[in-house]
Amino acid sequence: MRKIYIFDTTLRDGEQSPGVNLNTKEKVEIALQLEKLGVDRIEAGFPAASPGDLAAVNAVARAVKNATVIGLSRSRETDIDAVREALKGAQDPCIHLFLATSPIHRKHKLRMEKDEVLEAADRAIRYAKQYFDKIEFSPEDAGRTELDFLCKVTDMAIKAGATVVNIPDTVGYMNPQEFGNIFKTLKENVPNIEKIQLSAHCHDDLGMATANALAAILNGADQIEGTINGIGERAGNTAIEEIAMALATRPDYFGAHTTLNLKEIAKTSRLVSKLTGMVIPGNKAIVGANAFAHESGIHQDGMLKEKTTYEIISPDTIGLKESKLVLGKHSGRHAFREKLIDLGYELEDEAVNTAFAKFKDLADRKKTVVDSDIRAMLEEKLIDTPEIFTLETIQVSYGNQSTPHASVRIRTVDGEIREESAEGNGSVDAIYNAIDQATKETVELEDYSIKSVSQGKDALGEVHVILKQDDISAQGRGLSTDILEASARAYLDAVNRLLDKSKSPSKRDKMSLI
Ligand code: KIV
Ligand code: ZN
Repeated sequence: MRKIYIFDTTLRDGEQSPGVNLNTKEKVEIALQLEKLGVDRIEAGFPAASPGDLAAVNAVARAVKNATVIGLSRSRETDIDAVREALKGAQDPCIHLFLATSPIHRKHKLRMEKDEVLEAADRAIRYAKQYFDKIEFSPEDAGRTELDFLCKVTDMAIKAGATVVNIPDTVGYMNPQEFGNIFKTLKENVPNIEKIQLSAHCHDDLGMATANALAAILNGADQIEGTINGIGERAGNTAIEEIAMALATRPDYFGAHTTLNLKEIAKTSRLVSKLTGMVIPGNKAIVGANAFAHESGIHQDGMLKEKTTYEIISPDTIGLKESKLVLGKHSGRHAFREKLIDLGYELEDEAVNTAFAKFKDLADRKKTVVDSDIRAMLEEKLIDTPEIFTLETIQVSYGNQSTPHASVRIRTVDGEIREESAEGNGSVDAIYNAIDQATKETVELEDYSIKSVSQGKDALGEVHVILKQDDISAQGRGLSTDILEASARAYLDAVNRLLDKSKSPSKRDKMSLI
């Protein structure tokens, strides 16, 4: 069977999702998990975008040992130099150059004729070739580029020294037959095409990113670019887990496979969702909470008789296993430790003790503690959250005929206690007004979302917020059996991260790509 290379761009195109802003530690954490998942290539960022992006790409380049690390670059020398700098220390570096080729982009964005585009890309690839053995070239908006011109561009890229030519459907305009035909045409018409790898990079504007990528595979693509959970610009990119599972489930049809460690899919998906704050819809293929849930009586009956009646993938394949061991307030340290091992957490003794204390606190408030509660509890804090303000207590009074009122008690990093009360047009608004008074910070709430971690009235609630102050934004996450407390924790977490970012220019927001 043909191997399909997986090029993960969660840290670059995925990070271009509105509201997503990963810091260096978070990028490294995701990259190391991608390495465990077994992706072949990791696009770590766009070094020319900002010093922060360059530093993050460098940190990923130094941390990753078993995958190619890639930096994105416009077709200009200053960007290429930034990638050279960022990839210092990488075991297996690669540069990803791009230049738009479609008539719309040539006319309105680049204001360049076809010959000028060919010349600029040729110059950039040849310049990069002095420093990189591995070069990927992307004719941006290839999907809307004239096919004969795309053949010329690919021919130029091969002659100039590219090792991979990537075909992006930048605006998600293609349908599978059309997109597949691009690969067929390139394969049949471009000299020496067998000397390079052909890659597909699809966006999901019409919900066809996975279908288009699979069509590319059927027509000879060697590599698929995508992101975990399909996050990315606008409607997102091809979801890597969908490609991996489509190939693993239908080898008879595709005759191709990836070398991903499929059991790491669920964990990778959860990590990306947690760190990006992008909630996975329940009905999301492969990794959504309902992907293996059977609701109708007929389906449940079939499942009980023989799982394959309604299940084409076993949840175990992607590393999802709900163990039988349910914990409650009488469970001891031994059972808890067993559960952690079962869920794949390797913790030092001290961390087990801290987690056990948290678990006991949760078990006091919740009758049974299920696997999802434990995962959420262990993964509560976004990495590296500075504790500038800590929530001590919160009190809320609410009645549907009166104005909601909240009081908070907050401790600062210097030990100062600040107590404030405020009203609001809802309980959460009142809490946030009280926190604003206590922190003395003026912030803007850009996004608020809440979800239940498990089932039942006593389920843990998880709140995610995005706050903005001047041109900086930060996300925060809070967890509690009480949604108002979770809301307060998420808000304070985001305030802490916002203040930490504003102190350090390298942690500032990414610049827009193009
Ligand atoms: O969608 C796109 O065209 C891109 C390129 C930079 C490859 O992300
Ligand atoms: Zn893209």
